[in-house]
Amino acid sequence: MITDNPVFCALDTTELGRALALARDLDGHVGGIKLGMEFFNAHGPSGYHALAETGLPIFLDLKLHDIPNTVAGGIRAVLPLRPAIVNVHAAGGAAMMRAAADAAAEAGDARPLVIAVTMLTSLDESDLADTGVTGTPADHVRRLAGLAARSGLDGVVCSAHEIETLRRDLGPDFKLIVPGIRPEGAALADQKRVMTPARALELGADILVIGRPITGADSPRAAADSITRTLSLAA
Ligand code: C5P
Repeated sequence: MITDNPVFCALDTTELGRALALARDLDGHVGGIKLGMEFFNAHGPSGYHALAETGLPIFLDLKLHDIPNTVAGGIRAVLPLRPAIVNVHAAGGAAMMRAAADAAAEAGDARPLVIAVTMLTSLDESDLADTGVTGTPADHVRRLAGLAARSGLDGVVCSAHEIETLRRDLGPDFKLIVPGIRPEGAALADQKRVMTPARALELGADILVIGRPITGADSPRAAADSITRTLSLAA
């Protein structure tokens, strides 16, 4: 179940104790948490359950990419965990995405949103060319997001700078999940093209994935509260 708070905090750690302490601190102060392969490969379903006990919705960011049957099996295997959101790589193609959506639907009312990763932000135009894809990253993202929508997925992960175009292309119900968010004045770390939470929401983001500005703060809870305050001011 996804709440009104659009902030999902990325818990990028392999340390179970730290993840648990963060989740307990943030419970009620963020809309959910994002767990990636780092955490899940280290702690598996038991680590997941420990965090899920907080009651926070979980975005299980495993970025599945394989043949359709295997991806469907991978999704099916995590359905008992009742994640709020799961994801696959759009580059896996239409049949793979349809198989992922169909597998998720088997959870009925507990169906997670199935989201596609379009193009990793660590890649640039020359990396794309090396993989045989010509054209700009913006065109590639747009093409893959359209394919994800036509394949029955609920949305995509995109950068804040792609929100306007994708919202226009894909309509109001398609979920746009946006990392690379930095509150005014926060350290960029390795993020290059960032946007403030309020601006990203204003442009049409549905979920803001925010990691270090919250997890690296002296008080993660206070940092999360100060972010959500800027959102209610903007609303
Ligand atoms: O700490 P920070 O706010 O930069 O964390 C952002 C989170 O979003 C990380 O978990 C990162 O892996 C993820 N992410 C991203 N850019 C993407 C896709 C995912 O930063 N294009």
